[in-house]
Amino acid sequence: MGRKLLLDKAHIEGIRYYDTYRQHGGYAAAEKALKLAPGDVVEEVKKSGLRGRGGAGFPTGMKWSFLAKPEGVPRYLVCNADESEPGTFKDRYLMEFIPHLLIEGLLISSYALGSNRTYIYIRGEYAWIPDILEQAIGEARQHGWLGKNIQGTGFDLEIYVHRGAGAYICGEETALIESLEGKRGNPRIKPPFPAVKGVWDCPTVVNNVETLAAVVPIINIGGEEYAKIGTGKSAGTKLISACGNINKPGVYEIEMNLTVEEFIFSDEYCGGIAGGKKLKACIPGGSSVPILPANLLLKTAKGEPRLMTYESLGDGGFVTGSAMGSGGFIVFDEDQCVVRHTLTLARFYHHESCGQCSPCREGTGWMEKVLHNIEYGKGKMSDIDLLWDIQQKIDGRTICPLGDAAAWPVAAAIRHFRDEFEWHILHPEEAQQRNYGLAHY
Ligand code: NAI
Ligand code: SF4
Repeated sequence: MGRKLLLDKAHIEGIRYYDTYRQHGGYAAAEKALKLAPGDVVEEVKKSGLRGRGGAGFPTGMKWSFLAKPEGVPRYLVCNADESEPGTFKDRYLMEFIPHLLIEGLLISSYALGSNRTYIYIRGEYAWIPDILEQAIGEARQHGWLGKNIQGTGFDLEIYVHRGAGAYICGEETALIESLEGKRGNPRIKPPFPAVKGVWDCPTVVNNVETLAAVVPIINIGGEEYAKIGTGKSAGTKLISACGNINKPGVYEIEMNLTVEEFIFSDEYCGGIAGGKKLKACIPGGSSVPILPANLLLKTAKGEPRLMTYESLGDGGFVTGSAMGSGGFIVFDEDQCVVRHTLTLARFYHHESCGQCSPCREGTGWMEKVLHNIEYGKGKMSDIDLLWDIQQKIDGRTICPLGDAAAWPVAAAIRHFRDEFEWHILHPEEAQQRNYGLAHY
């Protein structure tokens, strides 16, 4: 049984409320951190090896140390709770069941970074969560963890919850900042990175919910101890939201050295493929990362067991090109149709494109149309190469990663399941009559 640092107390009745959270050791890390110098808290996070849990896996301590500190200019911390990646719902779980863990993480991180005004930007569809967060913020204030002169340290902090309006693109950090400022959520060109020019042009750190919550156990057990969990480059524990054709969908906390095989088949986690069917493929890190067929998913190209780590899931470049991503683990059984799923994702990215750059605006729509034709019996063999060509012309040629995220699933589907595309084109009527029993995510 792996170590649990984030969800170890999530099952305790009443843990959503301050008194229970406090009785079970809550705010002990905040007490400890507030006695340290802010720079020492940053050092502790650096030592831990914590990497961003939103999807990019950027080292958190390094991001924090990039924060510019010009004299007389405020700094901001923004918590990215715009969790919209298809297949990803672990931040929702954390905020819903153990909100004080996030508030405590925000307090420690704000103190470390010198942010006196910190924002939680939450996706519009999580309509019931802001009330839970506001309740926790109110309780924290009542007990002296927010407001002026927190616990007599002279440090002031207010946390504001800002609701998004339901646009996937607002999870991209610069689009999020634009939206927070009251504008349309169009991504900005980077650099400058938010660490230099973020909210209202002030230095800003944008971190994911799980990343900020992980700061609490890091302070509790110490950065060095945290770094011992996992595999070094993938340190600590990670929340995985597992869904699709498995027996036990849900949110799991894993140590980052677990094998993919154990995660899918053991009763402690996904409990195997539903209905006793065979595993066909998996998108291991949310819809933006490439799909992996079963043979590449369980073993690396060298025949070693594949691990639930940043390195192992992302190894091999062209071979897998996949990634740990946001931890949205979508499993497909043998009856699933890759063409249908690729069309679903293409439609999603087309709908969510902000339209600023031509390759993304035009290319996502074009890919959707071609995939629609193939899926609905009007495809031509040349369409497969056309799709390949379009995704190549999007990949790496856009302002923000949404363009890449739209291109990669199409590329991976063709790379690993070309025969399925061909079968659809050669057998249009049969393809349409098949009942695929779509996996839900
Ligand atoms: P990125 O790699 O561009 O940046 C990662 C972070 O490091 C950013 O905060 C960036 O500001 C910072 N950074 C990088 N270089 C820096 C430098 N030189 N100076 C200062 N700061 C620097 O990736 P990005 O755009 O933040 O995230 C993309 C990922 O997001 C995708 O891989 C995808 O997996 C994930 N994603 C997650 C979603 C979710 O719902 N959780 C939704 C959509 C995408
Ligand atoms: Fe907008 Fe797409 Fe360009 Fe991102 S890649 S800025 S979503 S058009």
